[in-house]
Amino acid sequence: MAPTSTQWHPGSWRSHPAAQQPTWPDDESLKAVEATLAGLPPLVFAGEARRLRSSLAEVAAGRAFLLQAGDCAESFHESSADQIRDKLKVILQMAVTLIYASGVPVVKVGRIAGQFAKPRSSPTETIGDVTLESFRGHLVNSEEFNAAARRPDPHRMLDAYHQSTATLNLLRAFTKGGFADLSQVHAWNQEFVVSSGEGRRYEAIAEEIDRALRFMAACGIDLDAEGPLHSVDFYTSHEALILPYEQALTRRDSLTGDPYACSAHMLWIGDRTRQIDGAHVEFLSGVGNPIGIKIGPSADPEEIADLCGRLDPTMSPGRITVITRFGAGKVAAHLPALIDAIGSAGHPVIWACDPMHGNTYSSGNGVKTRNFDDIATELSEFFAVHRSKGTWPGGVHVELTGDNVTECLGGTDAIVEGDLGVNYTSICDPRLNARQALDLSFRVAEFLRS
Ligand code: PEP
Ligand code: CO
Repeated sequence: MAPTSTQWHPGSWRSHPAAQQPTWPDDESLKAVEATLAGLPPLVFAGEARRLRSSLAEVAAGRAFLLQAGDCAESFHESSADQIRDKLKVILQMAVTLIYASGVPVVKVGRIAGQFAKPRSSPTETIGDVTLESFRGHLVNSEEFNAAARRPDPHRMLDAYHQSTATLNLLRAFTKGGFADLSQVHAWNQEFVVSSGEGRRYEAIAEEIDRALRFMAACGIDLDAEGPLHSVDFYTSHEALILPYEQALTRRDSLTGDPYACSAHMLWIGDRTRQIDGAHVEFLSGVGNPIGIKIGPSADPEEIADLCGRLDPTMSPGRITVITRFGAGKVAAHLPALIDAIGSAGHPVIWACDPMHGNTYSSGNGVKTRNFDDIATELSEFFAVHRSKGTWPGGVHVELTGDNVTECLGGTDAIVEGDLGVNYTSICDPRLNARQALDLSFRVAEFLRS
């Protein structure tokens, strides 16, 4: 039976084992940063998180699809307006492709405006005879391999908060201020994408959308009055990893009195921190946000069903998104038992596929990469299993950037190992570039349509 927490409060996680936390060198400055963060405004409002939760309830019911996408790790060195805009462009392009092909609404959630902390497979990294703390994301330390850079610094939490506010401010302007207007559908196609096969395929859809808009206008429909044509709802998410940060940004909703993590609309628990008695589960059990749970091949289906009970005792659709990331070739061995266990426990979860994190490997020259074919294969296996089980394959979760990077192999631009050094800027995992991401959305659209 799942343990239940009787005495939840924003700091109750502190009496549970917390995996993946840095060793902060100075307790006093950590406390000072926590106090400062606690006095700052929330990044998002509880009402927005609730609105996302009701949109996700539509996904759980099979009437909408979830697109969750963005960086593996946001960087303090990559925060220009152009970079944020280009990431948004590719997500909007993917969403339009999916909506057009499947006819179902797409709920758009970025791994953005707060995705600054990373779980690591080892707490330390050794090069030659030097051993240092692993890089844990810019919220904690920096990626350069020297003692000063790797030393955890709590002031980085404040920097992450401020970069998140600036990013969110721009996203709100872009999504509500005309840039996301459906009449801009051509403008989201970037120059390096337009010339590609996917870019042309996208242009054909954009042309159809223009035609549909002209048709409606000619029929006398006042398009200016149709709000959804002119702005989109775009939500933020990140892994809730560094718990002092999450606790400090927890606020009580002024309307309902319920606690919400106000660092992002949706938070997820990583595959390494989903222990049922652990601190991360304790913290997330008490906040009202929609919650993702990442699930890799090591998961025990019955334990995950118990975990759903712990995080969502009232079985509320939209509360839990199960994000499976088994790896290509492994889905059929793991997913059916998970669907059975969660299904027989009665949890109305959203089923999403992260085809990235089970498919990472080191290339011949030691660079971390992923192959586009493996990513597409895991997705097709995910759709096939859900089709055979009669469950709704409700979403995809991908790591991408709007830049023309060469981090993942393959795709129609056929990036090969020798290209990885050309433009590899990720500070953590390899991301799809805008062409590969668009290519992937065409594949997902085909799975949805069939
Ligand atoms: C991630 O999403 O960046 C991540 C680390 O995922 P997982 O917990 O699934 O390994
Ligand atoms: Co990653």
